[in-house]
Amino acid sequence: MPDLDAPQRQSPDALMLTGFWYRALPADRVHRHQLYKATLLEIPLVIGRDRLGHPFAMRDACPHRGMPLHCGHFDGENLECGYHGWQFDVHDGQCQLIPSLTADQNLKVDRIYAGSYPCEEQDSFIWVFIPDPGPPGAGFTAPAEPADEAPQIEKFSENYNLAYLQAEMPVSIDHGIIGLMDPAHGPFVHQAWWWRSRHSIHEKKKNFEPIPNGFRMSAHTPSSNSAPYKLLRLYADADSITTTIDFVLPNLRTETIRAGKYWFSSLTTVTPITRNHCRIDVVAAWNLFRWVPLVPEVLKFVFAKFVEQDRRTMELQAEGLQHNPHLMLIDDADRPAKWYFQLKAAHLEARRTGAQMKHPMSGPVTLRWRS
Ligand code: FES
Ligand SMILES: [Fe+2]
Repeated sequence: MPDLDAPQRQSPDALMLTGFWYRALPADRVHRHQLYKATLLEIPLVIGRDRLGHPFAMRDACPHRGMPLHCGHFDGENLECGYHGWQFDVHDGQCQLIPSLTADQNLKVDRIYAGSYPCEEQDSFIWVFIPDPGPPGAGFTAPAEPADEAPQIEKFSENYNLAYLQAEMPVSIDHGIIGLMDPAHGPFVHQAWWWRSRHSIHEKKKNFEPIPNGFRMSAHTPSSNSAPYKLLRLYADADSITTTIDFVLPNLRTETIRAGKYWFSSLTTVTPITRNHCRIDVVAAWNLFRWVPLVPEVLKFVFAKFVEQDRRTMELQAEGLQHNPHLMLIDDADRPAKWYFQLKAAHLEARRTGAQMKHPMSGPVTLRWRS
């Protein structure tokens, strides 16, 4: 059977890194016995939960003639396509039944697969593993096996709170990510009386070091002009507060703040939906302020405000980007963005040659900027 609908994508594609886990949907929005559409890396997906509540993700196109599977019927175990009634196991995509076959027609139904993807629930999100594009002949292959589990937020105590925020941005994943790691926009985009003003700009010096697939802003005492850290000082003396920020391919930004036995961790991802559209998901876990009334709400409000400021900025930026302007990255404030592009290039090169990835940083680096 010729493959009529496999996407003709260029591979490797630097905007759509495959072989990684991506956040697809918030877990609390996915209920049993219902089907949900999602798009990751321009791949249409249908997502749901089986009878036991385990999540699954399939390609939202029937391998027979491309009918979207989310229009089909789901009984909690198999998904039946709405066009000719072929049935598929939702976890591995294997075809279970082709109703049009007569008893003496011996087409091997179990050799046919709908596209399906490894799927896990982790820290409030349904994660989907997007494998490297397989050999032609889709429709006949079982799902790929991911090397690792979906990323998790690091937690430092048994009890904690968890909350998430999302924002859609009309820009490519690259602009989403470099906007996230860019220290210089803070005083201009994130102004607020309770936070900081542009007059609080001062020179900063931060140490960075290479880590596998990424880089780390080494543990440091946080900057004096930011509100969460002002709050944290209620809990511990300023010198004992440390924060570490990691960026790891393809899209993971982890921030960990520790103040004695108290901690705050967040994992932010920028997910490519299409080439010109990404989504930011921030999930935070913390054991601070758990018993203080309203503090979690205040924290969530502060974060939501930040994310909204970034979203609005990128919405405006998208207008300028439509005209394909020449862009630049400057030292030192844009150096993390340069590392991001170098990491991706090194990753793609390693995939191409099969050799070990050559990390673009050879050792620790100190960067200086004003923000
Ligand atoms: S298109 Fe799905 S069964 Fe025919
Ligand atoms: Fe920002």
